[in-house]
Amino acid sequence: MAAEMALLKPISKFANTPRLTNPRAPSRPRFTTIRMSATAQPTAPKKPTEKAKKQAIKETLLAPRFYTTDFDEMEQLFNTEINKNLNQAEFEALLQEFKTDYNQTHFVRNKEFKEAADKIQGPLRQIFVEFLERSCTAEFSGFLLYKELGRRLKKTNPVVAEIFSLMSRDEARHAGFLNKGLSDFNLALDLGFLTKARKYTFFKPKFIFYATYLSEKIGYWRYITIYRHLKENPEYRLYPIFKYFENWCQDENRHGDFFSALMKAQPQFLNDWKAKLWSRFFCLSVYVTMYLNDCQRTAFYEGIGLNTKEFDMHVIIETNRTTARIFPAVLDVENPEFKRKLDRMVVINEKLIAVGETEDIPLVKNLKRIPLIAALASELLAAYLMPPIESGSVDFAEFEPQLVY
Ligand SMILES: [Fe+2]
Ligand SMILES: [Fe+2]
Repeated sequence: MAAEMALLKPISKFANTPRLTNPRAPSRPRFTTIRMSATAQPTAPKKPTEKAKKQAIKETLLAPRFYTTDFDEMEQLFNTEINKNLNQAEFEALLQEFKTDYNQTHFVRNKEFKEAADKIQGPLRQIFVEFLERSCTAEFSGFLLYKELGRRLKKTNPVVAEIFSLMSRDEARHAGFLNKGLSDFNLALDLGFLTKARKYTFFKPKFIFYATYLSEKIGYWRYITIYRHLKENPEYRLYPIFKYFENWCQDENRHGDFFSALMKAQPQFLNDWKAKLWSRFFCLSVYVTMYLNDCQRTAFYEGIGLNTKEFDMHVIIETNRTTARIFPAVLDVENPEFKRKLDRMVVINEKLIAVGETEDIPLVKNLKRIPLIAALASELLAAYLMPPIESGSVDFAEFEPQLVY
């Protein structure tokens, strides 16, 4: 899972952020926190006498988020007694695939990791750390959600529940691998603290399906695009983790396919005008979040030899094409006007960031933000209202009795 949908939640201003610890400095006070964002770096151990504290840090609009849902409704949706659309044979087949565990022995590290990390210095080191942190948080977010779904659905639908548990296994592996990567930079994300301290965003099951499906598929396209690019241009492979992306992204692809099967089993989430509006809304949120996030971190993408905007547009277009197979409507992202709108949002977002960095008092900052937020909202609305592409899979029709006869 690569949670790229932070725009779906209004800014939650001063939430606790995950704690980064320095595993090489055991004498550090246990509760000292380090900001999770780009500034994280191997800092000098603080004085042992320093008062232990949890630092409240401003969580940005675009930070990766954790999700929770209505588990009772989920239980109902996957109850085979209630929902006759559930194609248990398809889920059984998917379960066998997850049990095969193609990547069981894939995530094995070697000494190249540490050596490569030591060579990454200067501003790129910080941006690399941030990439690992954000990716780890996003993967871990998937782990928590899937683990809970696996637990809660055990009674009503053991097959679906087991798939969720096996997906949480995959995400734990991904998060763990990224966290080990942080140890190469003498850091570690405290995942236990993250679980407790992070704010959870609530989504109804229907929205979890849209958002998670998109998250998995966009994750797949991001990983595979980076992998292919670095295979062609190995001189930019600054850190060995990218070599693992090819098999890794197949996990994300399978996760996305599972959500596709789940949505097919809930045709009411795909076949009416509301579903079309929500589908477009989620596509827009996910694409814009990624674009704005990545444009704030061009140093990372340029550092591995990518053009950030070209990379993002490729990922958006491919994700949109994949999504069009299941969502009843998607955005016309291949219309050049869509990219122009994204680029204007980037400019507005940069101005918003600049306002935040001034020395002004909060009131003045907020006043300065108003026209910018209005401009951003108007661009978002205009992008949302662009003529969409009618899409969707016809194969879920086979679950609808009226079409079978
Ligand atoms: Fe993952
Ligand atoms: Fe995933």
